[in-house]
Amino acid sequence: MAQDLTEIVKTQHSRKLFLGITFEQLLLILYPLCLIPAVLFWYRGLRRRRSTSDVPAGCTRLGLKGASRTLDEFEKKYDKGNNDQSTWRVKALFAYPIKSCAGIELDEAETNVEGFTYDRKFAFAEWLTPPGKKEPIWTFRTLRQNGYEKLALVRPEVWIPRQGNTTTQGNLKRVAQEGCLIVRYPNVPSGFLAPVDRLMLKWGLIPKENSFRVPLHPGKNHKYPIETVNIWKDYPDWINMAEHIPNDFKEWLGVKNPLALFRAAPENYRNLFRCAPRKEEVGFQPVVAFPDSYPLHLLNIASVHEVGKHVGQAIDRLSLRRFRPNILMEGPPVYDEDDWKRIAIGGNHLYSSCHTTRCKLPNIDPDTAERHSEQPEKFLRTERNIDPGNKTSGCLGMQLVPAKDRAFSLNVGMGIEVLERGEHYYLKT
Ligand SMILES: *[C@@H]1O[C@H](CO)[C@@H](O)[C@H](O)[C@H]1NC(C)=O
Ligand SMILES: *[C@@H]1O[C@H](CO)[C@@H](O)[C@H](O)[C@H]1NC(C)=O
Repeated sequence: MAQDLTEIVKTQHSRKLFLGITFEQLLLILYPLCLIPAVLFWYRGLRRRRSTSDVPAGCTRLGLKGASRTLDEFEKKYDKGNNDQSTWRVKALFAYPIKSCAGIELDEAETNVEGFTYDRKFAFAEWLTPPGKKEPIWTFRTLRQNGYEKLALVRPEVWIPRQGNTTTQGNLKRVAQEGCLIVRYPNVPSGFLAPVDRLMLKWGLIPKENSFRVPLHPGKNHKYPIETVNIWKDYPDWINMAEHIPNDFKEWLGVKNPLALFRAAPENYRNLFRCAPRKEEVGFQPVVAFPDSYPLHLLNIASVHEVGKHVGQAIDRLSLRRFRPNILMEGPPVYDEDDWKRIAIGGNHLYSSCHTTRCKLPNIDPDTAERHSEQPEKFLRTERNIDPGNKTSGCLGMQLVPAKDRAFSLNVGMGIEVLERGEHYYLKT
């Protein structure tokens, strides 16, 4: 009897599962299922809007359109260089619109006394109290500071008006009124919807990068606050464009203090002394915006190969991009540039003012933002401490200052000529 009863219950149960569903019940089940794609679509739209990935109207992106000129950077043919000056050439050009962030590669670089037009005019700064000080101040931040390695993954793009022709000085002024910086950074989901976002990312439904826009040239009547920012020993009053930084950028970077994005004010660049030519000598005062010291950085690919050979145990392929050159050259023998004093690139005269003394910044892999604990800093510090003015730091590359106060273009392929050689002595101030 009891057995019969369970039999009956079982069959009742299965009947309910497979046949007992009414048409209304079926609809109730299917209706929400139909909504899922709609919800996904709406959510994707929401996320897309936030990433403002569209391009600025009427503008064109500055930089190389094709493949990088450095794809062959590890080839053996660059190991040694040669003594035939007629073969020395500019191999690649780079600008770093925001200090410490990814660079953009150029075929032609508009150059001025303060360096490339779009090189390191911007930098991030954090509101903090420096050691030994009572008051907080905006302090410029770079890859050097622990926690800021992620800046290597921030990709600024420079967008200039399409009709603008940057090869002529007159047009440069017109371009100067418009254009924008698009700052791209990885879209790393956070918050309680993170799992959904991760799925959307995996399916390619939302962009891999978020972005925000900043005007390239704030213009004379801008409303941005002018505030003091500390860069090394200088305290210029520059333009704080922090209002454009979205919260998710700060979250992603992991900065607890207020974060700013400063633009150097052109009428107020930092005066450069140190080893740069003097005003009495060249007829103008050399200046810089956010570079650490000098406006242009020259690197020899053969020298990078030589360093790479010595640190090969620690770092398999030492990319020249770790050294953040403005001008990469091919041709000169390993370390030949160490005693250059004056050079000409495509006939444009430049002072080779100082060795580039190296900190730990090249230890960061520009592709992964991972910091190597020792190399190549250790090798450079012990084997390349060649400057009698700074025996504690390794040197690689040269710091250049244009010899004339005028705009000119540097191009990939231009010839490089050494006009004068001599001693160098690093000056800190
Ligand atoms: C820019 O101007 C120069 C000089 O007037 C001209 O040779 C060049 O073709 C122009 N480039 C573009 C892209 O219009
Ligand atoms: C040597 O150069 C490094 C890296 O640029 C710098 O941090 C350091 O202060 C310099 N040392 C001296 C004694 O000037």
